[in-house]
Amino acid sequence: MPVVLGIETSCDETGVGIVADGVLLGDALATSMDEHARFGGVVPEIAARAHLHAVTPMVRHALDRAGIGLGDIDAVAATAGPGLATAVQVGLAAGKAYALSLGVPLYGVHHLAGHAAVDTLEHGPLPRRCVALIVSGGHTSLLLLGDLARDPVIHLGDTVDDAAGEAFDKVARLLGLPYPGGPAIDRIARDGNPDAINFPRPMTSRHDPPYQFSFSGLKTAVARWIEKNADQPVPVPDVAASFQEAIADTLTHKALAACRDHRADTLLLVGGVAANSRVRHLAEQRAATAGVRLRVPSPRLCTDNGAMIAAVGDLLVRANVAPDRLDLSADPSAALHGALLRGPRRGRPV
Ligand code: KG4
Ligand code: ZN
Repeated sequence: MPVVLGIETSCDETGVGIVADGVLLGDALATSMDEHARFGGVVPEIAARAHLHAVTPMVRHALDRAGIGLGDIDAVAATAGPGLATAVQVGLAAGKAYALSLGVPLYGVHHLAGHAAVDTLEHGPLPRRCVALIVSGGHTSLLLLGDLARDPVIHLGDTVDDAAGEAFDKVARLLGLPYPGGPAIDRIARDGNPDAINFPRPMTSRHDPPYQFSFSGLKTAVARWIEKNADQPVPVPDVAASFQEAIADTLTHKALAACRDHRADTLLLVGGVAANSRVRHLAEQRAATAGVRLRVPSPRLCTDNGAMIAAVGDLLVRANVAPDRLDLSADPSAALHGALLRGPRRGRPV
């Protein structure tokens, strides 16, 4: 079975994974998160420099963990977008260099397809069709997926403004919690009451588009509540828990409505926000009630990592999809059409 090396550098994580036939053989992850914390968000130039330093050592670590050498690699997959332009460039250039020097094919893959594909490493092949909710720092999308390697991805709805993870990060800032905000809110919300404040559930009225999201108003509602109650110390755990509840309620409500309306018996919940304990729990409850099978990767595979990119590469290689040319360029704002950055493509076997 072909062995695929995957490289992910779209944000502040330098991830490398090695996958063969749906099995994760080894992976390694470095993060420059601490270097960004004092700026309250990722600084692209700092992230890019950190990727440059970390990518080769991470490839070596992943190979060691897999117990193989570079000569055993049969194909390379690298994130070609979307992401921070300079950060994506580093991983894609590294991927090209490995592919060229090893004489193996290169796949420039879409980062969000990686979030979906990673679930195959833990729960086996995806069903013939399913609804996927991708919730990350930059994206919130409800999708209809077929064969991820071959079929076009169908967008049921996306966010019209902030992504769910972005809302977590911004609300954490309002509450004086550290970056990244999602895990910080998840932790502190455990001590809070999710019913303490009734924050709005955006775009959930009967007249709203059923599968679109909007989280900017929710973030503003939290800011207004804090302003209005400025005469008391902010009850951070209660605000965090109530905000988190509004997000979890909105996401799971829409995702299960999409499953019902599109007669999908499987919901795939992926991306950094899928690591959230309340989102996972509510999704489990509601999926069970609706008779929908829920697939969620373990938290460490929900946030950015290299295994997810190797997982897409593995699907593409096994589907005999034609690889990319080495002059492929990165696209920091690439829309999701398929596993490859340039969309679904059938071609000659590799
Ligand atoms: O998928 P990801 O690692 O990177 C992107 O592709 O954007 O997602 C990162 C986002 C961040 O906004 C982070 O705050 C959020 O995922 N996140 C969480 C949790 N862990 C990460 N949000 C809520 N709860 C968490 N436990
Ligand atoms: Zn991501």
